[in-house]
Amino acid sequence: MAELDTTRLDTERIPRHVGVIMDGNGRWANQRGLERTAGHAAGEAALYDTALGALDIGLEWLTVFTFSTENWSRSAEEVQFLMLFNEDLLGRRRDDLHERGVRMHFAGDLDDPRIPQSNKDNMREAMELTASNEKLNLVFGFNYGGRSELVRAAAAIARRSVAGELNPDDVDADVFASHLAVPDMPDADLIIRTSGEQRISNFLLWQSAYAEYVFPEILWPDFRRQDLVDCIVEYQARRRRFGRA
Ligand code: IPE
Ligand code: IPE
Ligand code: MG
Repeated sequence: MAELDTTRLDTERIPRHVGVIMDGNGRWANQRGLERTAGHAAGEAALYDTALGALDIGLEWLTVFTFSTENWSRSAEEVQFLMLFNEDLLGRRRDDLHERGVRMHFAGDLDDPRIPQSNKDNMREAMELTASNEKLNLVFGFNYGGRSELVRAAAAIARRSVAGELNPDDVDADVFASHLAVPDMPDADLIIRTSGEQRISNFLLWQSAYAEYVFPEILWPDFRRQDLVDCIVEYQARRRRFGRA
């Protein structure tokens, strides 16, 4: 593994929260004459390396999009692979990431009956096992959709209001955000989408309100920790304004 080059990185201004839309697995596989699922399998190494890079540079929050609420519309074979892939990843990396101080979260509808029970159990176990880790919050957007997350928050607020636990007049942005999938998740500072596509595809709709975007022309299976650092260097050259003049 080449040494991580952080010479251009301002270590005093590491973003707090980076979101990654890991895109291009299918194209990576197609280019090699392989099945799409081979691209997903190769994407695992990219994810692990990126997580280690995040630990190296002291990132607090890394959210990765692993399966969208729209991805159910892919072939049964691909969907099944992606369901098992998630379990496979936990089986191989959970204890290692735990030892490195990673706290794992799963944002998304985990109650969905289409998700295999064994996978649900594994995800819950990983969350419980790593709940008191503090080095890096690694959030898997699994069966995640930004709209679904917002709708579920609205429904939870409505239920609590009807039950008399919450006065609708007290609902502000902070109260609303506390009903999202991972309540203590900060806003995303930087969203990276690989493969050259430039769209949000229902990722982190609430949290991306003032995010900066970087679109590296790299297919996800080829992405490594140095690419994460390079994206953050690009982010650090931006001037964020937050509506100010
Ligand atoms: C991203 O790669 C992974 C998932 C959506 C699960 P794709 O599978 O979307 O790859 P492309 O976009 O078809 O190349
Ligand atoms: C977004 O990628 C979802 C994930 C990376 C898990 P897609 O490949 O599904 O998005 P579209 O369909 O190109 O917008
Ligand atoms: Mg894609």
